[in-house]
Amino acid sequence: MYNASDNRYQGMTYKRCGRSGLMLPLVSLGFWHNFGYAATFDRSRTMVLGAFDMGITHFDLANNYGPPPGSAETTFGRILKYDLKSYRDEIIVSTKAGYRMWPGPYGDCGGKKYLLASLDQSLARMGLDYVDIFYHHRADPETPLEETMDALASAVRQGKALYVGISNYDAERAASACGILRSMGVRMLVCQPRYSMFDRRPEEGLYRTLDEQGVGSAPYSPLAQGLLTNRYLDGVPEDSRAAGASVFLRAEQVTTDRVEQARRLNEIALERGQTLAQMALSWLHRSPVTATVIIGASKLSQIQDCAGIMGRLDFTQEELSRIDAILSSPAA
Ligand SMILES: NC(=O)c1ccc[n+]([C@@H]2O[C@H](COP(=O)([O-])OP(=O)(O)OC[C@H]3O[C@@H](n4cnc5c(N)ncnc54)[C@H](OP(=O)(O)O)[C@@H]3O)[C@@H](O)[C@H]2O)c1
Repeated sequence: MYNASDNRYQGMTYKRCGRSGLMLPLVSLGFWHNFGYAATFDRSRTMVLGAFDMGITHFDLANNYGPPPGSAETTFGRILKYDLKSYRDEIIVSTKAGYRMWPGPYGDCGGKKYLLASLDQSLARMGLDYVDIFYHHRADPETPLEETMDALASAVRQGKALYVGISNYDAERAASACGILRSMGVRMLVCQPRYSMFDRRPEEGLYRTLDEQGVGSAPYSPLAQGLLTNRYLDGVPEDSRAAGASVFLRAEQVTTDRVEQARRLNEIALERGQTLAQMALSWLHRSPVTATVIIGASKLSQIQDCAGIMGRLDFTQEELSRIDAILSSPAA
């Protein structure tokens, strides 16, 4: 039987998510890879329980995470039932809907029927009465935004979600979504954009909008799927995402230019007394809008490394300028 570490809150810092009452750990754990049926259950369980012992209280899921789709939620449901049940009130569970989940016209996109049916299915897979955060996973230009926000507001009114969020929305649509939701009496808690040193698009307007709206940001793929770690500095390891079955990071994306940039960033990280992964995560927290960063992992040791960012969140102006110079070099 699992008993959580008594020291679990001593090594983690919690940051307010936008203008809300919710505090999130600086580092959260995502279930996109390595938690479906294709992964080893014992390893998934070790990572979840190890993360919770480090003060990582936020677990990020989606209806389609696996493979196969849905299986990451089922895995998490098993861990919740057998290990974490008595800690439910110490845990923030998020899930999402927005990508294709079942056949036919009601299994995809941003319509109310799909979103609410999907949330019910997610709750059943996880064995939960409610999730803490329910996200619309991607913008859907074909569905009126009012309907998508109505679905999120309904999830809150039905008690099936405490908070709601959006993911992969641009600045303009995010601002509209926040306004519509507010008019329905519900506040937008959080936005989940892809954001890392290697993908700085949220700096072009989204972060300003989130700041104005009082919405927190939870960047995903903050390590560029592993490119911003020491994983690929000496080639593509056999057990890495780029060498595996994932279609989202292929070996040809591990280019010489990217590795060279990572190597130069790693030199700055080492000077700061950090690993490259730690510096990449600290760098995202330089903005107060970033409430947490949602990492992925294939091993507990990676989560331990990432959770160790606390000591060095500050950057000197010189460090930031050197990082900018590397990121704007031709390889970027
Ligand atoms: N909203 C959306 O549309 C969306 C999209 C994608 C992801 N997400 C969320 O974001 C989460 C994270 O995405 P991601 O997995 O791409 O994040 P990531 O943190 O950028 O990449 C994770 C990968 O980096 C490597 N890694 C992590 N920590 C490391 C360390 N300390 N040292 C060396 N290597 C390390 C591991 O690669 P190896 O596997 O090679 O060991 C790990 O699988 C997902 O699980 C999901 O919850 C959301």
